[in-house]
Amino acid sequence: MNHSTLLKSHYPWTSTPLIAAAPMRLIATTALAVSVSQSGGLGFLGIGTDSSVLAGLLSSCTSSLSQAPPIPNVPQGVLPIGVGFIVWGASLSEAVEAVKASPLKPAAIWLFAARQLSELEEWTTALRQASAGKSKIWIQVGTVAMATEVAAACAPDVLVIQGSDAGGHGLAQSSSIISLLPECADELSRRGFGDIPLIAAGGIMDARGVAAALVLGASGATLGTRFLASPEAEIRDGYRAAVIKAGDGGVSTARTSVYDVLRGTTGWPGEYNARGVLNQSYWDHGAGMDAVENKKLYERALEMGDEGWGEMGRLATYAGTGVGLAKEIMPAGEIVRGILNDVRRIQVVL
Ligand SMILES: Cc1cc2nc3c(=O)[nH]c(=O)nc-3n(C[C@H](O)[C@H](O)[C@H](O)COP(=O)(O)O)c2cc1C
Repeated sequence: MNHSTLLKSHYPWTSTPLIAAAPMRLIATTALAVSVSQSGGLGFLGIGTDSSVLAGLLSSCTSSLSQAPPIPNVPQGVLPIGVGFIVWGASLSEAVEAVKASPLKPAAIWLFAARQLSELEEWTTALRQASAGKSKIWIQVGTVAMATEVAAACAPDVLVIQGSDAGGHGLAQSSSIISLLPECADELSRRGFGDIPLIAAGGIMDARGVAAALVLGASGATLGTRFLASPEAEIRDGYRAAVIKAGDGGVSTARTSVYDVLRGTTGWPGEYNARGVLNQSYWDHGAGMDAVENKKLYERALEMGDEGWGEMGRLATYAGTGVGLAKEIMPAGEIVRGILNDVRRIQVVL
């Protein structure tokens, strides 16, 4: 079975190519996940490091979907929504309990940023069991070595290949998907793991990015930053406005740990940092301001609400290098339908 056929058989309500919305921690909640899945994509809930929110979000998606026209072709006992965990900080036992207790099992479970490979093996086995095999396992990786190790140890249903352009957390040292994805595809095939579908992530903002990812060997794409510019993303308007305003992401964003330090979201394994839009916090850090003073100013900016974001603001605006391609706020469903419509028209002229 080719990869697209395999994905279609696992998520039969989705269109080809598969468009997923990233499980952005506490940003991708019911509204975003549901609208993406209702529009022919696969929406993920961003559970992040707090497994205790899973049960509530699963039941809120179930209830939201039950009040809308049914999504066609959803397999029996499956919720057409994925859930994403940041493995180093989340509780596996709480996740298992919530999945077991949920009458509908999430269609996919996305794992990211484990401290060790053995954690991913443990999570994969336990969650496959808890969902009685109904939830497919997606694992996000950022290097060729990680892709082959994870393929061998966990036999995931999908590998998400995350390039360095990605917004939010990722490996401090990685390449963009333009070289990472084909090298992963080649190496996985060479080692006998060529049957695992690859989904590209990092810098993909529209149908052109999706088409490019397909040419590189992916069977679909995950977008995070693009969905920040949707009303369904659970962020403050100041954050959304800063995303719309930023352009030329190679210079207006950077990978850094500064925002984690200021927000107090520490604990990430050492090889991870996060890409965000540059602002006064970053520049002050670069100019040598000490962390205590910078944090004090950050906390003051929090009290300013929407005014705390923007170039002259101080609050974390995690977003990828593609940020300049998000020019307007658009409903998440329209984003998915637009990409699916446009990607079919793209022809590569040689
Ligand atoms: C604001 C934001 C929050 C994110 N949070 C998570 C997360 O909680 N878990 C995760 O696996 N990935 C997270 N990511 C990374 C995405 O999974 C994905 O790799 C990334 O969004 C793809 O790149 P793009 O933002 O350029 O589309 C986040 C990304 C963004 C922009």
